[in-house]
Amino acid sequence: MNSNADISNSLQVSLEKILTELPPAPTFEPGIRRAPTRHFNLNRNDTRQALKNALRYIPSKWHSELAPEFMEELQTRGRIYGYRFRPPGAIKGLPIDRYKGNCIEAKAFQVMIDNNLDFDVALYPYELVTYGETGQVCQNWMQYRLIKAYLEVLNREQTLVVASGHPVGIFASRPEAPRTIITNALMVGCFDDEQNWHRAVAMGVANYGQMTAGGWMYIGPQGIVHGTYSTILNAGRAKLGIPEDRDLAGRLFVTSGLGGMSGAQGKAVVIANGVGIIAEVDYSRIQTRLDQGWIDLATEDPGEAFAIARRHQNEKKPIAIAYHGNVVDLLEHAVMRRVPIDLLSDQTSCHAVYAGGYCPQGIDFSGRTELLKANPAGFKEMVDATLRRHYQLIRALTEQGTYFFDYGNSFLKAVYDAGVQEICKNGRDPLEGFVFQSYVEDIMGPVLFDYGYGPFRWVCLSGEAEDLHKTDAAAMACIDPERRFQDRDNYVWIRDAEKNRLVVGTKARILYQDAIGRMTIALKFNEMVRRGDIGPVMLGRDHHDTGGTDSPFRETANIKDGSNIMADMATHCFAGNAARGMSLVALHNGGGVGIGKAINGGFGLVLDGSERVDKIIAQAIPWDVMGGVARRAWAGNPASIETSIDYNRSRRDSDHITLPFLADEEMVAGLVEKALEDDKNQ
Ligand SMILES: NC(=O)c1ccc[n+]([C@@H]2O[C@H](COP(=O)([O-])OP(=O)(O)OC[C@H]3O[C@@H](n4cnc5c(N)ncnc54)[C@H](O)[C@@H]3O)[C@@H](O)[C@H]2O)c1
Repeated sequence: MNSNADISNSLQVSLEKILTELPPAPTFEPGIRRAPTRHFNLNRNDTRQALKNALRYIPSKWHSELAPEFMEELQTRGRIYGYRFRPPGAIKGLPIDRYKGNCIEAKAFQVMIDNNLDFDVALYPYELVTYGETGQVCQNWMQYRLIKAYLEVLNREQTLVVASGHPVGIFASRPEAPRTIITNALMVGCFDDEQNWHRAVAMGVANYGQMTAGGWMYIGPQGIVHGTYSTILNAGRAKLGIPEDRDLAGRLFVTSGLGGMSGAQGKAVVIANGVGIIAEVDYSRIQTRLDQGWIDLATEDPGEAFAIARRHQNEKKPIAIAYHGNVVDLLEHAVMRRVPIDLLSDQTSCHAVYAGGYCPQGIDFSGRTELLKANPAGFKEMVDATLRRHYQLIRALTEQGTYFFDYGNSFLKAVYDAGVQEICKNGRDPLEGFVFQSYVEDIMGPVLFDYGYGPFRWVCLSGEAEDLHKTDAAAMACIDPERRFQDRDNYVWIRDAEKNRLVVGTKARILYQDAIGRMTIALKFNEMVRRGDIGPVMLGRDHHDTGGTDSPFRETANIKDGSNIMADMATHCFAGNAARGMSLVALHNGGGVGIGKAINGGFGLVLDGSERVDKIIAQAIPWDVMGGVARRAWAGNPASIETSIDYNRSRRDSDHITLPFLADEEMVAGLVEKALEDDKNQ
């Protein structure tokens, strides 16, 4: 058997090559949010293995000092984060020139990783959680250090492979191949459940990448503002009778959560010209949004919140009000006083409902953290009781005319899991869906994803505000606002983006676009880089998109041909993007709805101004979107069929999508009824 000395001698990238000595014991800056304890419940064998697993990263000369520290982290935090290996002070996504590397892509990824861990951007930066309560860049700081070290040596003829945060190594490839391939939490089917998942994470073999956290493409809450803006605006048009060319003036949107993604809600409702009340139990998160100007004011009094909202509704002036308290208390008030609410949703982290994502009624935020640590079973009981009450209140409000939608946070599923079977359409199980619709089912799916409109994004890697300004203008020039109302909304969005001060962290922008829109803008940006008008740009998207995610409770909730339980599309999207040369490809299990409930993937493409990148754009960007449109078309979604017909015509020489013949509903129904009748009579 080889000794640790043999192993050490064979490694060119290792912590002892990076660090001449063991870093000092960790310190934590006050005022930075910390992740709650993830309850430690491994058995003896698994605990031993977890400790050995973490020590795999550590040169043996440091084992005796670090082993007790890691054991304590595991016992007290439920995970081994290796805090000591976090570089001291603030981490920020710096201008690309400040990073070491042998290729532009590897330097770009370092900008993105550091941006995901910025104190201003990340939810729990010390625990490497970017957003969504549990969404991590990688599992621990040893992995972070090693990934960065690999990226510093990676060249154009190599690919870095990252498995759930663990850098497996670099392997020979070619310039047209991805520079990094990432997977997160891909569990084997029969183990793909919460229990096995918790064990795997505690043992240090799985990472919850959420969507863009583990795929390194998170761009701060802005990433979600555009989607939220489109969702609530189109909910108003679809459900409140607001015309397509009008906004939410005078309308009230009530919701909860001012965290990583949910923090976008205040800003989005104001951009849509409406009035919003957002409940949030953690004052530190309200403070963050107040400091950013994404919330206008905060109150602990539900009566005051509704009174201010009413005044603004009457004057048709937009405002975002934070209610500091539990959303269930806010809704109790609304139901008791019969306050009219137009649009209602919820963005607590119900995908991690028992891990602290949803605060029970009757305790405040610090009480929630203590109870979760001291008595997880009691915590679960309180969560379930609150969810049941929450559901009753929503029912009462919808009976008064409110439109409620699930915001993709697994809220409806959580209510079902809390014992409310009547929330299922069939009164039994979620197989036929829920009595309330999810935002994708009702709004984003038919209005945006089915056409291919999705959360395209870019980061100006120079860090220059001027580059962002130029790219905004260039993207706006590519949009024809007269084509569809979606294009007009996107045009207005990008026209006003700078004015709306959306940037937190790197100089990034989100802009919903369809396949051809994304390709046209990407080619334009690459040309600008080529001409030297701007520095290099990192393109990407949220996984939450037309083709990147299979998630029956969310992105694919409006796929009704029975294939919503399949994950072929996201896998093809990932493989196809790798084959076409995206710089980074990622495939994850989980995402916003929880482990086992979604397979989702994304990409990053570094625009270096080359013709090589022009070719990648022309092939990969339409594929990335149209694979999803094709699947939606095959499921019979009308907008996707229309989009695919156009695509088949316009890309006749290169692409072709199989389209479904539509069966006569009456004929099918008649035949089925007759067959069932015959069956009964036999
Ligand atoms: N914004 C989107 O477009 C979008 C899309 C899909 C899914 N999601 C989902 O939305 C959820 C929220 O995401 P996030 O990144 O904001 O998570 P987060 O954990 O950062 O924020 C959730 C917030 O809800 C607060 N909260 C919890 N229970 C509460 C209660 N009972 N009353 C009031 N506030 C309460 C928490 O304190 C926290 O700040 C996730 O499940 C995510 O997957 C969001």
